[in-house]
Amino acid sequence: MMGGGLRTGTETFGERGEGLDQKMRAVGIRRYGPPEVLESLEVERPEPGPDGVLIRVAAAGVNPADCLLRSGGLRFVVRQQMPFVPGADVAGIVEATGPGVTRFKVGDPVYAMLPNTAGGGYAGYAVAAEGTVAPIPLSLTFGEAAGVPLAALTALQSLRDKANLAAGGHVLVNGASGGVGTFAIQIAKVVGARVTAAASGRNEDLVRSLGADEFLDYTAADVTAGKARYDVVLDAANVLPFWKVRRVLGPKGVFVSVNPFIGRLSPGWLARFRGGRRIESVLVKPDGGDLEKVGSWIGAGEVRPVIERSYPLAEAAEAHRRSESRRARGKLVLVIDEKLTAERAESPLRKANRPMG
Ligand SMILES: NC(=O)c1ccc[n+]([C@@H]2O[C@H](COP(=O)([O-])OP(=O)(O)OC[C@H]3O[C@@H](n4cnc5c(N)ncnc54)[C@H](OP(=O)(O)O)[C@@H]3O)[C@@H](O)[C@H]2O)c1
Repeated sequence: MMGGGLRTGTETFGERGEGLDQKMRAVGIRRYGPPEVLESLEVERPEPGPDGVLIRVAAAGVNPADCLLRSGGLRFVVRQQMPFVPGADVAGIVEATGPGVTRFKVGDPVYAMLPNTAGGGYAGYAVAAEGTVAPIPLSLTFGEAAGVPLAALTALQSLRDKANLAAGGHVLVNGASGGVGTFAIQIAKVVGARVTAAASGRNEDLVRSLGADEFLDYTAADVTAGKARYDVVLDAANVLPFWKVRRVLGPKGVFVSVNPFIGRLSPGWLARFRGGRRIESVLVKPDGGDLEKVGSWIGAGEVRPVIERSYPLAEAAEAHRRSESRRARGKLVLVIDEKLTAERAESPLRKANRPMG
């Protein structure tokens, strides 16, 4: 290989991108709008920079943020260049690496969260910075892996960095049956916390199977009306106001909201009304180290992704409609490369590494 050139799965090139097929299939938008604006596109294949990993995407996760970016709900915060390809979660194999990449090589099965509003996941190839990439746990299919990064990182960064949740702490996870909530229950149990999960009644069995110690049906009673006092309330559904949460927070309790703007709306001078309780909002960050941590728990059988359904890429609009219903149980994923996905699903090595249960 010539000094500093791109390493690819098929050939070695002296100059970046030289000889690569420059076009790829994707699903994206040419204008903001309802799910129907998602269309099949042929776009430029991205190239990895010096620390970039080019991933041949087998499957991509669907997140509520993808729908917000598609609808234009965030256009006053960030304006997308059209055509725009949504998607923050990708799982696949390394197709090429930039010259500075040391931890991954062509052919490695990897997953990553792409930068928050950048998109790019609903495509045949995506580039992620090496520091945001992690090896896929041996037991997972690509579809399952694609459901992990953004939701699991949000749960981990909320409970660890915002709430400092520790063994023996008691956490209320509201929105426990969704993407973030299903990971939050399991991560809190790994830490040794007691978990009360709030969801609608039909999801009680699911959240208990993930380790929830107690269950609250928010459709039957106000989750902030009970006698329990929590060290942490994680509102993964983004529906609880602090004035209600305050009633069930212990004296040093922390309210973590997935609304990234809540913290800013709660200036320091309001602290005296909170009586020592904290309000934190989380804005998830791509982080390969955190993803490896989650991967180690998955490998040990302590955490598992809950996948409601996989859709072919051509049915991305249907997946967005389901996400926008706010009824998804766990994650929705898009299968982008059917061959790769099927091969890994059938791999004896993967099956042999499947933890029991
Ligand atoms: N700030 C950040 O960095 C960040 C990162 C990730 C996600 N988010 C935000 O976090 C929220 C959740 O994300 P997600 O991926 O977990 O979404 P999701 O998977 O679509 O969440 C669906 C779940 O929400 C539950 N739910 C809906 N309304 C509820 C309510 N009123 N009370 C309690 N639960 C309710 C549903 O449970 P039932 O069907 O049982 O009602 C369903 O299981 C979204 O608003 C998302 O935009 C923010």
